[in-house]
Amino acid sequence: MGKTILIATEKPFAKEAIEHIKKIIQSSEGFNLKLLENYVHQSEFKSAIRDVEALIVRSDKVTDSILSAAGELKIIARAGAGFDTIDIDSASKRGIVVMNTPGQNANAVAELAFGLMLGLIRNKYNGTPGTELKGKRIGMHGFGNIGKCMSVIAKGFNMEVFAYDISRGRDKMIGFDVQSCESAEELYQLCNIVSINIPANENTIGSINYDLLLKTQKEVLLVNCARKELINEEDLIRIMDERPDFMYATDFAPSRKEEMYKKYSMRTLFTSKKMGAQTTEANINAGIAAVNQIINYFKTGDSTFKVN
Ligand code: 3PG
Repeated sequence: MGKTILIATEKPFAKEAIEHIKKIIQSSEGFNLKLLENYVHQSEFKSAIRDVEALIVRSDKVTDSILSAAGELKIIARAGAGFDTIDIDSASKRGIVVMNTPGQNANAVAELAFGLMLGLIRNKYNGTPGTELKGKRIGMHGFGNIGKCMSVIAKGFNMEVFAYDISRGRDKMIGFDVQSCESAEELYQLCNIVSINIPANENTIGSINYDLLLKTQKEVLLVNCARKELINEEDLIRIMDERPDFMYATDFAPSRKEEMYKKYSMRTLFTSKKMGAQTTEANINAGIAAVNQIINYFKTGDSTFKVN
């Protein structure tokens, strides 16, 4: 029979990624694939997870209720970086290993961040003169895989790069042409553009608040391709009301999207849905990493990238 790996994705992988995953599973004795793509109801997920030993997901919500149905599950591989959509405590209580695949989709997210920036500083390509990235100071709020990718791309645009990372410190910036800041406040004060690249957790949710946003200099552009919950939306609206020079580009439509588009039409840019990791390359990289991590875990006990 072997072990079954379920891929459950509301937002499916590119078909090329599925082909790669299928090939890996076919060539690894003792593993089978079960596919649940484009599911709409949690009940479909709950029923598919019953008899599987491993699970691959994207941003799918893996709740305690879903896990309660997973009688055989040993490992979850989140094909991506953020695991805020998984009930980690519930998984741990049930002895289920949770892993992510850090870095595998970072370039896709980094490229999207620059796409959003350009769209906004070029006035959404409406024919009026915009401004350039060249010579601007960009700040990386968080210097993990995405911050690193972005800092390299920023250098190509001839930007000055600053970074602040609470957990990594200066040594993580060695080898990157980046100026380290002592605090988020310092970063927000210094830069013309700030990119949020931090995970969503109990310490960071709502941490981009009025006081921090108030530190920014004139004509600042805030870019959020990380998580919607990091920003206190009421505070963001307050600052955008008070500061007609404040711009916001994001990969997540805010809750008050319609109102924001109406009020600040040339100062905001949102994607239609979360697009950061939506490239074939990112899907292939993250999908392959996820399936290989699962197979290695069963074969050798390798738990690199375990997050619980
Ligand atoms: C991540 O955390 O890796 C990104 O947010 C991408 O998530 P997605 O693959 O579900 O779009």
